[in-house]
Amino acid sequence: MKGAIFDLDGVIVDTAVYHYAAWKELAAALGFEFTEADNERLKGVSRMRSLEILLSVGNITASQEQKEVWAAEKNSRYLKLLENLNENSLLPGTKPFLQKLRADGVKIALGSASKNAPLILDNLGITDLFDAIVDGNAVSKAKPDPEVFLKGAELLNLDPADCVVFEDAQAGIEAARAAGCGIIAIDKNGILKEADRYVTCLGDLL
Ligand code: BG6
Ligand code: MG
Repeated sequence: MKGAIFDLDGVIVDTAVYHYAAWKELAAALGFEFTEADNERLKGVSRMRSLEILLSVGNITASQEQKEVWAAEKNSRYLKLLENLNENSLLPGTKPFLQKLRADGVKIALGSASKNAPLILDNLGITDLFDAIVDGNAVSKAKPDPEVFLKGAELLNLDPADCVVFEDAQAGIEAARAAGCGIIAIDKNGILKEADRYVTCLGDLL
């Protein structure tokens, strides 16, 4: 491994609870219930695609314009919740693991679908541990397309085959496989498939 490419939500920080709270509130405002099981389907998925999945649960169809409004509403709720984030919100072992990789000369990139990734890294106080950031603003094709990880490897000036991807979503594992990277799955519930190795958090790798 010459390069390590990290997904953000669910690998570095547990923002899924905040995403869920914000989506649930939108669903309630639209008059239906959005369960935690429904929320599983949104992991690794872009904001607009997440909204479309949520609307299909509520049997709601809407114009593109209306969808933009709802997606923006959800994001402002989510941003309010993100104000709670700080260094203590990092998943176990994250910072020591990143520091160890740096000390070993491994280059580090972020490969996330989130457009809020730079803000989240800042709130967590770990932006300076990354050599490159590829977020939801930098990619046009969502996971399972390999674009996000191919860009990450390119920004690190490395062959994707020399990079390992750390992922908690099946779509992300498929994207990493398609990019030709090694894959370590962060899998607390034993539900992921097709990775090279499985751990419950980055701390397990120390
Ligand atoms: C991914 C999350 O990392 O980012 C998804 O797993 C989320 O649940 C996606 O929808 C987009 O996030 P954001 O912050 O741009 O709304
Ligand atoms: Mg994730």
